[in-house]
Amino acid sequence: MLYIGVDLGTSAVKLLLMDEKGAIHNIVSKEYALSFPHPGWSEQAPEDWYAQSVEGMIELTKDCDKSQVAGISFGGQMHGLVVLDKEDNVIRPAILWNDGRTTKETDYLNNVIGKDKLSEYTANIAFAGFTAPKILWMKENEPENFARIEKIMLPKDYLAYCLSGVHCTDYSDASGMLLLDVKNKCWSKEMMEICGVTEAQLPQLFESYEVVGTLKPELAKTLGLPETVKIIAGAGDNAAAAVGTGTVGDGRCNISLGTSGTIFISSKSFGVDENNALHSFDHADGNFHLMGCMLSAASCNKWWMDEILQTKEYAKEQENITKLGENHVYYLPYLMGERSPHNDPLARATFIGMTMDTTREEMTQAVLEGVAFGLRDSLEVARSLGIKIERTKICGGGAKSPLWKKIIANVMNLKVDVIESEEGPGYGGAILAAVGCGEFASVEEAADKLVKVIDTVEPEPELVAKYEDRYQRFQKIYPTVKELFPELDNNAAGN
Ligand code: XUL
Repeated sequence: MLYIGVDLGTSAVKLLLMDEKGAIHNIVSKEYALSFPHPGWSEQAPEDWYAQSVEGMIELTKDCDKSQVAGISFGGQMHGLVVLDKEDNVIRPAILWNDGRTTKETDYLNNVIGKDKLSEYTANIAFAGFTAPKILWMKENEPENFARIEKIMLPKDYLAYCLSGVHCTDYSDASGMLLLDVKNKCWSKEMMEICGVTEAQLPQLFESYEVVGTLKPELAKTLGLPETVKIIAGAGDNAAAAVGTGTVGDGRCNISLGTSGTIFISSKSFGVDENNALHSFDHADGNFHLMGCMLSAASCNKWWMDEILQTKEYAKEQENITKLGENHVYYLPYLMGERSPHNDPLARATFIGMTMDTTREEMTQAVLEGVAFGLRDSLEVARSLGIKIERTKICGGGAKSPLWKKIIANVMNLKVDVIESEEGPGYGGAILAAVGCGEFASVEEAADKLVKVIDTVEPEPELVAKYEDRYQRFQKIYPTVKELFPELDNNAAGN
């Protein structure tokens, strides 16, 4: 049988066709626009996601035996607010995970409702990108739109709704709404009341590997696929990527170097860190996970290459970087503000330490290192909880760079396992589809059978020591400059 995994990303939707043995038959990517209507805001049109996904599915399956396609599932960008009216029209563009407009609402939730209460209701505190602060923002700033809301959903759930007609979500993605009681796997009555929404407006909850419905007949015709194709709930992109890299069960780790950067630690038991610096979410395997999320990771390198150096030769720019652990230039990777662990939407990217002899290579190296240091910030929170991690998987566009993997292994002092398919969320989505269609008894069984490690990047003790020293300095930069960021904020300054 064949399974389609849909990775609904921030810059493109990537679709992947996998068979029951885990072999990938085809991959198709379709881009769409991302708009930044104000500095720090980030929006996308859900209709574009759907149109490009349908186009992509037609292209993906054009050479396969379509009667063999059994299931479709998803890994989707998390936290985005998608709202539909009574007629199923999208009310306004989706407000995305890396949108920082909700400073006021986040402050209200964390300081007036209080972090303790939020943590008690949901296992998490408010971060600007989470869904609940966006609902409050809409209520305050767009009351006429707010009054029209019939259905609230997350990005990948919009696709599932268009494909199946079922208003659904899964626990892993719902965890990032700040509306879910993560421990007890149900909507929080208190949070619904705080946000002014009802359970009828929220999607029905499923495990990521559960079937929510089948392909709508008219759509099956357009796609040339059987009407029996099952739609499986899917997961937030990080949980799906964790499935796709075999980060399931207890105590495993995955790093994703996509537009965002995340460190994901799977766990069989529910847990919360004292300061809620890491997210405590449900996992797509039916268990739990802790996660730290940086808002700009591979996107820092993309910005540096595309916009500043104006080159597409990413690998060539990295060829002459040889002096690892010795760079005197540092980079704070906060192009869109920062989530974990600082929770500061007004933080901004910063270069520091340049001299007249600083080279282009050192600047590029600083960008790659800054992202690795940012990920290490979250790893340190996990370590402070007594969690012992010695190795990690890695996925996402940034994982294609051997140099970046080496920097990460040494900055974090972790063995980095490279897997056969770096298509984290798409591969995870296809695995969830296979489990939902009964091909495997559980997500753990499927991931253990299908995911293959092909190489390991080992940390080198001498380099680890050098980077330890650099990390200690990096850690001092944000606290030193953070007071400046609100003054640099265009919105606050009214210009
Ligand atoms: C996770 C997060 C990002 C997005 C990116 O909390 O906000 O990783 O899911 O797509």
